[in-house]
Amino acid sequence: MRRKLIAGNWKMHGLADRLAEAEKLSEAYPDPACEVVLCPPATLISRMWEVLLGGGIRVGAQDCHPAEAGAHTGDISAAMLADAGASHVIVGHSERRADHHETDALIAAKLHAAHGAGLVAILCLGETGAERDAGAARDVVTRQLEAALPAGARAKDTVIAYEPVWAIGSGRTPTPAQIAEVHGTLRAALQRLVPDQADGMRLLYGGSVKPANAAEILAITDVDGALVGGASLDAVDFSAIIAAAEALS
Ligand code: PGA
Repeated sequence: MRRKLIAGNWKMHGLADRLAEAEKLSEAYPDPACEVVLCPPATLISRMWEVLLGGGIRVGAQDCHPAEAGAHTGDISAAMLADAGASHVIVGHSERRADHHETDALIAAKLHAAHGAGLVAILCLGETGAERDAGAARDVVTRQLEAALPAGARAKDTVIAYEPVWAIGSGRTPTPAQIAEVHGTLRAALQRLVPDQADGMRLLYGGSVKPANAAEILAITDVDGALVGGASLDAVDFSAIIAAAEALS
């Protein structure tokens, strides 16, 4: 049985005062029945690690550079993230694909770097609204998965997050049938790409997950957790999503 994972992506939100939200979560969930990871901006990783120390919630990062070290002003390596306390790193988020022109090849290299530093990689995939309208959603996510997943990816070091671009921050979500269809497609692709790991690898859904829809989304076949943006910034909202996952764990 795959353990549900609830990951919060704070994006470019949060100054030190927001660490109070992490503290509240840590107090509310000292030993959550599902896995919980908070990915703050890089500036807060080490301080959040200290806030969560000794509890059951982990810290993650939102991106890493593909190289181990070097002359890359402003960038952060996977080893630096691990050194700051991160256990997970998001790679290939659609906002980075769009804002920073990240290609599938670059994302594959970042995944490799994440694994090299001992981090769990959360690989984001998802179609745009135009691609969905054209009936290409399943082809797009399959291509993105094939391009970025290393042959040696393991269930314990890799998580896949299906995030339709049109659902992120929009308040719109696919129907449960649409989510199930894409997750089924991804599970079948994993069976082909990493046969001995496919059954154990978590498939998250992300895009406008809120307290009001979390229970329904998390109950869908092959949905093993959620990647949550806006609703992860507030301890009350994020707690409700964690509680929905715990109820299914
Ligand atoms: P959202 O973001 O929950 O605010 O839609 C999800 C994400 O981008 O990971």
